Amino acid sequence: MRAVVLVGGFGTRLRPLTTTIPKPLLPVVDRSIVEHLVGHLAQHGVTEVVLALGFAPDAFIEAFADGTCAGIAMTYAVEPEPLDTAGAIRFAADAAGIDDTFIVANGDVLSDVDLTALVAYHRSTGAEGTLHLRSVADPSAFGVVGCDDDGRITQFVEKPAPGTEPSNWINAGCYVLEPSVLARIEPGRKVSIERVTFPAIVADGRLYGLLDDCYWLDTGRPEQYREANLDLVDGKRPTLGVRPGVSALADVDATAIVDRSVVRGGAIVGPHACLTESIVLDGARIEPRVILDRSIIGPGSRIGAGAILRNVVVGVDVDIESGSELTDTKVPES
Ligand code: GDD
Ligand code: MG
Repeated sequence: MRAVVLVGGFGTRLRPLTTTIPKPLLPVVDRSIVEHLVGHLAQHGVTEVVLALGFAPDAFIEAFADGTCAGIAMTYAVEPEPLDTAGAIRFAADAAGIDDTFIVANGDVLSDVDLTALVAYHRSTGAEGTLHLRSVADPSAFGVVGCDDDGRITQFVEKPAPGTEPSNWINAGCYVLEPSVLARIEPGRKVSIERVTFPAIVADGRLYGLLDDCYWLDTGRPEQYREANLDLVDGKRPTLGVRPGVSALADVDATAIVDRSVVRGGAIVGPHACLTESIVLDGARIEPRVILDRSIIGPGSRIGAGAILRNVVVGVDVDIESGSELTDTKVPES
């Protein structure tokens, strides 16, 4: 089965990390978000992935130069301009010649959804589309569904105003679709699957959902991106076990303290530095006595000696002066 993975968004909420690096290429411990995602699809029988690209396509083409990702074939469809979610699915599916039941996944979601069960359920109901649903405490930041007892979706509302949600079951960003869904999407135009296409299929009574409260995380905001990393270090993602946070290719001084943190290859952590729940990306330099608390340091950045950063996101190739004290901020700010 083939899958379209949507990776064309701007990753606005993760700036400044995503100013130059597309969100799905950010690493979560030992591999990029998209590699984690495609690896999971492959375990459930997906044999080929089409990346629906817009923003920064070259970075993806370089990252998977041999045309494979997580061991399966990967092709690309580069939109001439962002077509939004449905427009991107139509464009990518047309480019790949998809004419059979297929999977769509949002490229920023890490999950252990039982895709095999989702496909089986889809086939058993004869649905045109079947969504992975998940229950969350606060659904207003997501697509929210109302369902009847058979799993048929009776309402789909994207990002409803708080207090108006039909339930606390959300669209978890992974779908099984029939090719007939493609015919519902006008080609070459911006169309949102959440705001236009899903409500239209609901009106025809042909959209279904299956609740699977598996490990699931949308990595779209800094807090969640950090959480995705810490979950692997803590062994909270059941299918992956505990992953060591410090890369064998990092240079961490023996006197530094690294507590529930990730240090990627090529990064340097100097003497008496102290890292707590922080992510230090490739080639970043943490100088002596720096304190990093709940912070993310982008690739190639330098944090000068003695600086103290609490809840800070530092972008790519940024220089933070020695002795700086920063709290609850981003550098640069946009
Ligand atoms: N190719 C392409 N072109 N991809 C796009 C475009 C586009 O124009 N716009 C967005 N995407 C991709 C993003 O890169 C991301 O992988 C996915 O589509 C979803 O976009 P987000 O911007 O991350 O949406 P969201 O997180 O606010 O909401 C979506 O995900 C939620 C679950 O995490 C929606 O699908 C919600 O309904 C859902 O609950
Ligand atoms: Mg998202």
